[in-house]
Amino acid sequence: MDTHNAFPTTIYILGTDRDIGKTVTCIGIMAKLLTPEYGYAKEDIAYMKPVGQETLTVVNGAGASIQVDKDAVLITSLLELPTYGYDQISPVVWQGGLTSRCIDDGAKGDPVAIQQAFMERIWASFLQVSQGKRLVILEGTGQPGVGSVAGISNGDVINMLRARGVPVYVIMVSEGGIGSTIDQIFPYLMALDHIGTRVDGLLINGVLVDKLDKIRHYLTTYYEHNMPVLYGERLKQPLPPIVGFVPTVPELRYPTLRLIAETFATQPDSGIEVIAPEDFEAAACQLVHNLKVINLVYGYEPYVNPGDAVVVGVNANDITLAMLLLHKRLIRRKGVGLAGLILSCKSAGGLSPQVRDLLADENLPTIAVNYDSADVIMRVDNLRVKIQPYDLIKRDLIIQTFREHLVLNLDLAKAAAPARG
Ligand SMILES: Nc1ncnc2c1ncn2[C@@H]1O[C@H](COP(=O)(O)OP(=O)(O)OP(=O)(O)O)[C@@H](O)[C@H]1O
Ligand SMILES: [Mg+2]
Repeated sequence: MDTHNAFPTTIYILGTDRDIGKTVTCIGIMAKLLTPEYGYAKEDIAYMKPVGQETLTVVNGAGASIQVDKDAVLITSLLELPTYGYDQISPVVWQGGLTSRCIDDGAKGDPVAIQQAFMERIWASFLQVSQGKRLVILEGTGQPGVGSVAGISNGDVINMLRARGVPVYVIMVSEGGIGSTIDQIFPYLMALDHIGTRVDGLLINGVLVDKLDKIRHYLTTYYEHNMPVLYGERLKQPLPPIVGFVPTVPELRYPTLRLIAETFATQPDSGIEVIAPEDFEAAACQLVHNLKVINLVYGYEPYVNPGDAVVVGVNANDITLAMLLLHKRLIRRKGVGLAGLILSCKSAGGLSPQVRDLLADENLPTIAVNYDSADVIMRVDNLRVKIQPYDLIKRDLIIQTFREHLVLNLDLAKAAAPARG
């Protein structure tokens, strides 16, 4: 699959939206390439996010705190990739204030000079990151237009790399439907074509399993037969084939009690307190399948399942105790207990010392918050669930899904083709 080029083959993952599955696709493709069928080793592959937006603070090699794109941290830690320093993996971070500064500076001076300065940073990082690698995976940012304020939209970055001789294979990720998917892809495909960016493959993510055959039939037919006739003459670049369909994995949308606790901790009114266990961070990484409210009116046994998290009023010590026993019984009988316990209305202050002691002795992740039960449910429902660096269960699900269900039809030799005129 390697081309005889000075640079390694580079896969650039674009998306038609934020949260569309670019990071999931990067993880899945890497996992696929690491199978014997493709024969890559971890040391052969590098990941980089040329332009980032949402950041985390990390410490770089020189001991300084730097802002790094969240996906760069996520992928390198989740896949245990050898790192070359986060400055390289995440060379440009688009932060608050940069947009207005860029527009003002560009209007006063030369927007192209600003663009070039960013491009040189990306290029220098690419040279570092790609050294000695057989393959580089680049994750695009947001939808294709993000970055255009400074002339570093996804298409611009791809064009720059290709112009400097990097064989770039571009995959555009979109969501699995029929009409909605075609509509979503269309404007981006046209705009990218207009700026001379060839897209080499489309990847349809999050397809409902029972609709897979139908969606495959209609999308393949449209892109192979209908679209070329309707728009082919107006396009300079060849139309991309569909390189894969990825099924929906519902568990990827499930939160963990750790994510719930971390989110509550950002809200001063939550009053969050971690009750148990001592190593809460490790214990609270189970996926929360459902959040159930238990009160004295309803029985709980048939209603609570392994993997559920339960909300109980802090004063209802009997119910809390019953949940602890249920958790232990579920582990004994089914191998999986509750994913967590949330004690609501903490300010009522009614958790008995005995129950607190019993909770402390067990491995059931438990937090207490000021919110009432309805408020807890609403806040968890509204949570934006993104994969976290500690979500090993989700990582394994993605790996399994891509390995089992995706026939990755990549013709990476195409990456070396020059984009048309
Ligand atoms: N096939 C899938 N099935 C179910 N959920 C999915 C699937 N793919 C992605 N998701 C969900 O969507 C979320 C966003 O996915 P991902 O982080 O890969 O998007 P992204 O395009 O990289 O987002 P960003 O624009 O922030 O970089 C994931 O955390 C996961 O919860
Ligand atoms: Mg991402």
